[in-house]
Amino acid sequence: MKTPSYRVEAGGGLRGTIVIPGDKSVSHRSVLLGAIAEGTTEVEGFLESEDCLATLNAMRNMGVSVERPAPGRVVVDGVGLGGLAAPTAALDMGNAGTAMRLSMGLLAGQRFDSTLTGDASLTRRPMERAAMPLRLMGARIETTGGRPPVSIRGGGALTAIDYDLTVPSAQVKSAILIAGLYAAGETKITEHAVTRDHTERMLRAFGADVRTHNGVVAIAGGQRLHGTRLRVPGDISSAAFFIVAATLAAEGAFVIEDVGVNPTRTGVLEILKLMGADIRLTNERRFGDEPVADLVVKKSALRGIEVPRALVPLAIDEFPVLFVAAAAAAGVTVVSGAAELRVKESDRIAVMATGLHALGIEADPRPDGMRIVGGRLGGGTVDSHGDHRIAMAFAVAALKAHDRIDIHDVANVATSFPGFPALARGAGIAIDELR
Ligand code: S3P
Repeated sequence: MKTPSYRVEAGGGLRGTIVIPGDKSVSHRSVLLGAIAEGTTEVEGFLESEDCLATLNAMRNMGVSVERPAPGRVVVDGVGLGGLAAPTAALDMGNAGTAMRLSMGLLAGQRFDSTLTGDASLTRRPMERAAMPLRLMGARIETTGGRPPVSIRGGGALTAIDYDLTVPSAQVKSAILIAGLYAAGETKITEHAVTRDHTERMLRAFGADVRTHNGVVAIAGGQRLHGTRLRVPGDISSAAFFIVAATLAAEGAFVIEDVGVNPTRTGVLEILKLMGADIRLTNERRFGDEPVADLVVKKSALRGIEVPRALVPLAIDEFPVLFVAAAAAAGVTVVSGAAELRVKESDRIAVMATGLHALGIEADPRPDGMRIVGGRLGGGTVDSHGDHRIAMAFAVAALKAHDRIDIHDVANVATSFPGFPALARGAGIAIDELR
């Protein structure tokens, strides 16, 4: 079967103002927590991507009424902590690691048995990192050699744990926090690196008491959630493609409106500023518990840097496009402490290195990162390996390339950023989708 590809002509410039779609992490959590809240939750700005729809459908398959009255609007009729019904088949999470790992935490606390599965990429990804702490809480949960399918036996009782989160993963933290709602006692998680805190913020929006102090997150079991209204900010991980694009090729000031700027997600801005980017936050405000701003980005000459390790978890999804920024920068960029990139939707270190080599860039992949020597980007053909963020990153590279870039296997862009080619074309990237 022929998979769709992108053909992106070299050059172009970014102009105007855009609004990017809703945050993927926040959208997943809105329907998952809305489902187990009491009463109605109304969500505005929900990301209608394949990943988030996998979570939405999983909730429907457990008897929750979820309506979509208008684009970006979702109304969840919460059933309360104990109100989910047994699904009649395995829950298919598609490409979505977040959907799977957060659901593991949710399903660990149910009375019924369940199975979680996913697509070819997801069924290669590590699930023991979430299964292990849940087992310590008393969950009966089995992976298939560490990977999906994951089966969960219901009906057991969960007990709170004190857990040392050695893998810097918001998904694992969230799975434990959600299971913690079903556990007897107070669950405590100690984080060694800051990871995104959308679950903590949203649990509070649903009325739960979640305490964070000195890197420890604590939640007492048995707390009931109350339906609420949520407004999802624009996804900074999607904005990142346009932030880098504008840094490379804006004609004047390029504006991206309503971007979520939660401090656990803004590593990409800090890294780009260290490289010399001109990014300004204006109109700073909040959508509920989440900070939001408009970003004003101007073209600037980037220079290579050693990326501070502490910023890595705060920019973990942005490295594909940051590697492109490094390729277009003057000098050498070194990323380390980023081994997690190897277990994302693809091995993002290996796949990006191969793609950059195809474009004539010197990129030295390492077990936990990459060394990139900025240089002349040629044209060529790259394979995204079905990874949405790799596909979009190479589309941005074309702005600085000397010849056309063809990007294969791009269908999965719809998992996080439906409408990317049209938005990119409108902003000034010469991209066509070939089917
Ligand atoms: C996410 C956390 C990150 C990130 C993913 C979304 C989340 O994964 O890469 O795209 O919504 O919690 P890890 O927590 O596994 O690092």
